Amino acid sequence: MSITKASELIGMKRIGDIVASALKEMRSYARPGMTTKELDDFGGDLLRRAGAKSAPALAYGFPGWTCISVNQEVAHGIPSEKTILQEGDLINVDVSAMLDGYWADNGGSFVLGRDIHNHQQLVDASRVILHKAIRNIKGGVRLSDIGHLIETEAKKNGYTVIKNLCGHGIGKGLHEEPDNICNYRDRYDQRRFRKNSVIALETFISTKSTLATELQDGWTLVGNKGGYVAQHEHTIMVTDGTPLILTDKNEIWN
Ligand code: CO
Ligand code: CO
Repeated sequence: MSITKASELIGMKRIGDIVASALKEMRSYARPGMTTKELDDFGGDLLRRAGAKSAPALAYGFPGWTCISVNQEVAHGIPSEKTILQEGDLINVDVSAMLDGYWADNGGSFVLGRDIHNHQQLVDASRVILHKAIRNIKGGVRLSDIGHLIETEAKKNGYTVIKNLCGHGIGKGLHEEPDNICNYRDRYDQRRFRKNSVIALETFISTKSTLATELQDGWTLVGNKGGYVAQHEHTIMVTDGTPLILTDKNEIWN
């Protein structure tokens, strides 16, 4: 969406705060021995108490409040009583929700407890790359130039990017134009970021894979060549200068 009046900005800030706080709280609530269902129920309570509805449940019938992807799972992991979190797991929590017709989306990967499997470097690369990408977005910048920045930074760190998972416009729906804000340069893509538009920018940085493929459950995505993937996501409003980060309360950069 494009924000044209104060009430729209208030609505977006409100849902931005809700999804950001839920992500932050879920991250600090996660403990070894907990199932991803318990973690999701905790996040779901936070959303429900704020009056918000789960975006993936509402838009796509996703069987959970939030997406929780563990280790080899790249995204869209279904919260389950069978998935028990363990020390050193690479966990991605993605929280998106709707309140009063306004939608916001954010996510972050993190290592649970001690980093016994050495995932922290990948997580840090993804965080730093998202930060750098967002700092370079303003009205008039080409979407493909941000894709190029993300891919170049990933390569510098010895990583690949997942090419078929992308950022997207958001606001009046979960996925809006401009869709497919990718993590690489598409030289045929002439689109530019527009001032006052709201987008969800998300990294997908991988140790090996270049594509995400769906498991038989119809939801969970894994890498085509294995390895691990880290994702970080903010919902932002594009300006003439540094973007306004509507989900800054998630503290994924801290
Ligand atoms: Co998103
Ligand atoms: Co998301």
